[in-house]
Amino acid sequence: MNDAIDEVRPPEVPDNVAGLRTIDSYHLVSEVLRSPRFGNGRPDLPRMRGTLPVIDGDEHRERRRRQAVLFTPAAIEAYERDILRRQLDRFSAECRGSVARGDIVAADLVELGLSWLTQVAARIAGIDGVHDDASAARLRDLTEGRVAEYAKVDDDERRRIDEDDIARRAVFATEFFAPSLARRRQMVADVASGRASPDSLPRDVLTLLVDGAGPAWDEELALREVLVYLAGSIRTTARSLVHLTAHLAAWFADHPADLERRTDPAFVRAAAEETLRLHPVLPVLLRKASERVELSDGSVVAEGERLALLFGAANRDPAVFGPTRNVFDPYRDVSHASVPGYGLAFAAGPHTCIGRRLAMGSADPDGGAMGSLVAMGLRLQAMGARPDPDAAPVYDESTFYDEYARFPVLVDPWQDAAVAMEGAG
Ligand code: HEM
Repeated sequence: MNDAIDEVRPPEVPDNVAGLRTIDSYHLVSEVLRSPRFGNGRPDLPRMRGTLPVIDGDEHRERRRRQAVLFTPAAIEAYERDILRRQLDRFSAECRGSVARGDIVAADLVELGLSWLTQVAARIAGIDGVHDDASAARLRDLTEGRVAEYAKVDDDERRRIDEDDIARRAVFATEFFAPSLARRRQMVADVASGRASPDSLPRDVLTLLVDGAGPAWDEELALREVLVYLAGSIRTTARSLVHLTAHLAAWFADHPADLERRTDPAFVRAAAEETLRLHPVLPVLLRKASERVELSDGSVVAEGERLALLFGAANRDPAVFGPTRNVFDPYRDVSHASVPGYGLAFAAGPHTCIGRRLAMGSADPDGGAMGSLVAMGLRLQAMGARPDPDAAPVYDESTFYDEYARFPVLVDPWQDAAVAMEGAG
């Protein structure tokens, strides 16, 4: 098997697809995702019950509308400036403090990405007390772990993964969630009684849920929603950062003339889009027809039938991406109207990723957020990040996610400082 770091593996199909009709054409996947006649088709997993990705119709529209305030361009710019960039600056300064001038630093890119992203995720979810590496690591220990339905294991092991997940969630609920909830309840009560102004409320998922709580308030649902946000925002982007860095390293080795573009935001953005196209963070999404539907290719889906939408295959559909569909090419020209460079990596239709702009920012060169994936990718390039020739990366073969368990890199924090000085000059 080819084990080059920038390998584009054939997309894998998880076990939960067995027996379902699969769709792998780009336009048909897009059509199903956008159609109001299809809704969530996942099995009823207790940890997802009632959360944003699994609800549909008016309930979904209303919750999504409320949560959209967390993802305005101004909010995203503030997360990037106040949290992410500070962490990148701190990392670079700490590296310089830990080695002699001119020396390089070895690090695991999987860990770096996860730690940089955790504080932003906690802020958006509304979890307090995550303000340094230790608390971020603790949060991740409690909320990150193997995901049973995407693990390549037998049923017994799957049960064990679920039990472990439940046990860790219980600790998270006591240690992080309960104090964050209590604080928000107090603040919302203070606003209701006129003791505080509405502007003093934090803007995060948990506050929105507490503030909008009706008589049917469900603390367990709030806990699940917060956990969905943490899971949806941290590993997705961290996983993509590793693939992006691997692709860039291989690209520059083959195209040295492009090295001068390694700190060009437009180039790194194009590379990030191409990375997301080839390595979608979700291998499959299941959708269920609420009525009989005839799709545009003439096929008929019966009422209640579930379809498996294969993102990996759809994002390499030759009808859309041509004969070079399996190849990483930051200069790819996707000439189909309405097909973004990253294809369906963020899904489409009403459940399109709510955090897309946070990850990818805006392509406007004159302003706006860069997007956390692009910002981290660029900063790593400014530090000359490259795979460590003395430590092989470890691809995680135990899951259906396309991800590395470890990805050792070398970074040059002195080069980063020089690039920063140039930028300032
Ligand atoms: C590279 C980064 C990311 C990728 C590729 C990605 C991908 C996706 C995909 C494919 C979906 C659709 C899932 C479905 O329909 O069930 C989704 C939904 C979602 N994503 Fe992301 N995501 C990323 C980052 C984020 C971030 C940073 C956040 C939050 C801060 C986030 C929060 C969510 C939420 C809450 C949903 C559910 C939306 C809904 O159902 O209305 N994601 N994401």
